[in-house]
Amino acid sequence: MSDAFILEAENLHRVYEMGSVEVGALRGVDLQVSHGEFVVILGVSGSGKSTLLHLLGGLDRPTEGKVFIEGEDLSELSDNQLADVRLHKVGFVFQFFNLMPQLSAQANIELPLFLADIPSKEAQKRSSELLSLVGLSERRDHRPTELSGGEQQRVAIARALANQPKIVLADEPTGNLDTATGADIIQLLREVNEQQQQTVIVVCHDKRLTTVADRVIEMRDGQFISERSGKGGKV
Ligand SMILES: Nc1ncnc2c1ncn2[C@@H]1O[C@H](COP(=O)(O)OP(=O)(O)OP(=O)(O)O)[C@@H](O)[C@H]1O
Ligand SMILES: [Mg+2]
Repeated sequence: MSDAFILEAENLHRVYEMGSVEVGALRGVDLQVSHGEFVVILGVSGSGKSTLLHLLGGLDRPTEGKVFIEGEDLSELSDNQLADVRLHKVGFVFQFFNLMPQLSAQANIELPLFLADIPSKEAQKRSSELLSLVGLSERRDHRPTELSGGEQQRVAIARALANQPKIVLADEPTGNLDTATGADIIQLLREVNEQQQQTVIVVCHDKRLTTVADRVIEMRDGQFISERSGKGGKV
């Protein structure tokens, strides 16, 4: 595989076994993403978006096909090596935020830094910078239940960025937010992409995201059905 692409997927299939029934959630997906690209993948519920994102970020393994991150074949990695790739190279943002409820905003952001053995002083410095980046310095000591949905998603984005991953994967990041808050989150993802040259892949139903995307791919029934350039602009 060439390392012209930061991320490549080759003929991805994912079959879920449900007792005697097999669900073909992904049915032959190929994808090549360039460094610094902002890609949006649109599709209706059940089209395989989350399944795809999990495979791209090494949260799950394909039934068939391969994923390469910076030319490295994820199928050749052990579970521990894969966890390492997730920790250092990929940041995940989820629809339901997935923050640790008992930890403050700042401690949530520091969690992946501690997992990566970053000394606590450095972790504190970095989490403070990230809180400022997402506009939440004043909320550093709040727990998730003491934050609005949009604020929780900002913390989740800061956490995803903690180890300066080259790739940020977001699964319906605006799905649980009102329109205006969703627009702010989209803008934040675009800023991250532009200012830090992070590659961003978002899967969603939210058509507004196509206005900031460099490329828009549409999915149906586990396959890509169309692809076009996005507007690459503001929300
Ligand atoms: N763990 C699982 N076991 C069995 N079937 C699954 C599992 N996860 C997903 N599926 C099935 O695979 C298909 C794709 O699911 P997926 O979650 O990837 O869709 P999606 O596009 O993310 O949908 P949504 O927009 O609702 O989040 C669906 O038909 C779903 O029922
Ligand atoms: Mg989904």
